[in-house]
Amino acid sequence: MGDTLAQKIIKAHLLSGDTAVGSEIGLKIDQTLTQDATGTMAYLEFEAMGVPRVKTERSVAYIDHNTLQSGFENADDHRFIQSVAKKHGIYFSRPGNGICHQVHLERFGKPGKTLIGSDSHTPTGGGIGMLAFGAGGLDVAVAMGGGPYYISMPKMVRITLSGKLRPWVSAKDVILEVLRMLSVKGGVGKIIEYAGEGVKSLTVPERATITNMGAELGATTSIFPSDEVTREFLKAQGREEDWAALSSDEDATYDEEYAIDLSSLRPAAAMPHSPDNVKAVEDIGKIKIDQVCIGSCTNSSYLDLMRVARILKGKTVHPDVSLSIAPGSKQVYNMLAKNGALADIIAAGARVLECACGPCIGMGQSPNSGGVSLRTFNRNFEGRSGTADGKIYLVSPETAAVSAIAGVLTDPRTLGEMVSIDLPEEFLINDNMVLAPAPVEEMDKVEILRGPNIKPFPQSEPLADTIAAKALLKVGDNITTDHIMPAGSKILPYRSNIPYLSQFCFGVCDKEFPARCKEEGKGIVVGGSNYGQGSSREHAALVPLYLGVKAVIAKSFARIHAANLINAGIVPLTFEKDADYDGIDQMDELRLPEIRKAIAEGGEIVVENLTKGTKFPVRCELSKRQREMLLAGGLLNYTKLQAE
Ligand code: F3S
Repeated sequence: MGDTLAQKIIKAHLLSGDTAVGSEIGLKIDQTLTQDATGTMAYLEFEAMGVPRVKTERSVAYIDHNTLQSGFENADDHRFIQSVAKKHGIYFSRPGNGICHQVHLERFGKPGKTLIGSDSHTPTGGGIGMLAFGAGGLDVAVAMGGGPYYISMPKMVRITLSGKLRPWVSAKDVILEVLRMLSVKGGVGKIIEYAGEGVKSLTVPERATITNMGAELGATTSIFPSDEVTREFLKAQGREEDWAALSSDEDATYDEEYAIDLSSLRPAAAMPHSPDNVKAVEDIGKIKIDQVCIGSCTNSSYLDLMRVARILKGKTVHPDVSLSIAPGSKQVYNMLAKNGALADIIAAGARVLECACGPCIGMGQSPNSGGVSLRTFNRNFEGRSGTADGKIYLVSPETAAVSAIAGVLTDPRTLGEMVSIDLPEEFLINDNMVLAPAPVEEMDKVEILRGPNIKPFPQSEPLADTIAAKALLKVGDNITTDHIMPAGSKILPYRSNIPYLSQFCFGVCDKEFPARCKEEGKGIVVGGSNYGQGSSREHAALVPLYLGVKAVIAKSFARIHAANLINAGIVPLTFEKDADYDGIDQMDELRLPEIRKAIAEGGEIVVENLTKGTKFPVRCELSKRQREMLLAGGLLNYTKLQAE
């Protein structure tokens, strides 16, 4: 039996595990990327590992999210990332150079390689035939240090494309159709491969639009084959030598199969407030619009913006509409400027923004209250635009541009004949905004620039023989990562400042918790069922680590949070009998004798409640790797040990 495209790349990078669906596999990672909002923490974690230089083939740090710099915090983060990159062998894409996924596709992506990035849309790289995953900052730090990236072996899904897109129907309409078919949960635990004759008619940036929004399907990742179209793209980027042919075997088998006839598709829109709430534009009708935003890592390529410029040429944006356009990269921006398309965009009255995530990450351009905004982005969850009652529709650049002129949602096919635009034979190549790291012999001389917002990463100790601490907090069922470590725009700029964040830890449950931790120096948290549900936010483990939390005893844990606790070196324990939860009061003195031995040997773990004079058993279900991680004091220490 042959292999799928993804299975081939997985097998070529397999460091541990077997490839049966659901088994844990460890993969060698060739490339990493970070963006600034998550990157600062990833680099603090990398520093804490003590590895002098990255061990990946290529690691790139991008600045594209928090570029407004309304306070010193973001600028401090940028300078920190720049200096870390220079010292530790990482390429640095300066603010203004573009959105991480767009730039990575243009300048660094290579077919057949593995990529992880601390951003959920890293699967964009699948457009060029990479196996690319969105991951946590700690995972990226570990990969930079040479450690494997662990995932559960996903199911394989094939979507066979036939036919050719009709005029004015675009790659965005393809992925919207996939979302309509499979829903936002349809890709969970799966890798989506695109195949069939129809693939050949899609350029690499179009394929990347499709793999980008695989994240909205919840897919582990999405991937296209690497073919002559891929070779042409790389050649036009001056990187033909990076090309390699890649496709699935004829006799590969898939867990699920779907088919889409490209010629049957119509321009579509994802209606508020979910990317899978998809309808054809002509069926939605001519609703009045207030705003149009074109850009983001989904739709800001040269092809996208050239089509937009052609539509806008000689026209004026409707008086009731605000149109903003953010090119995806400096390369795109520069090419539009050089060939005159930018002049057409400006003349039409578009508000041109810098090459960055911009409105997609809520950096400006919130719509008016109750306003209708058409966006070429990938997400339209309620409130993400910054306007709680804003109504966001996700559309193609063509639909967005035509509608901006008309003032109402408009099917671009009404424009009649389409002026076709081809990819250039040569892109404008100028990597002057990508800074190479210092050569090995000079890296020691590079000074890390730490502004006041950059605070050290909390270090955990190897697991003690015995844990003795008070139950500093007792909480009920369904505690979310938002309860443990709230997010929100006021806190976002402080992601690299764990001491500052720690004052908000469990603030919604008990404002005095951080003060008690400081006074005691160490503690245990007691929780109910489904502790840590909600998100993969690693700060919900790192901040308790900083505050001295040694263990959490709960009725049950959300899976990802339990993994994050282990990564941080905090022991997650579950009550053998739920009733024992009732036998603990906040501030009881607890003792876990010989916990280290029990974790190492998988033996029974007993909790002694010294205040009540009682004892009860708890469980700690761990894989061998997780056991070793806890003994080492978390993932970073474990990776350091492995590297020695
Ligand atoms: Fe940036 Fe939005 Fe993509 S925040 S990385 S443009 S999803």
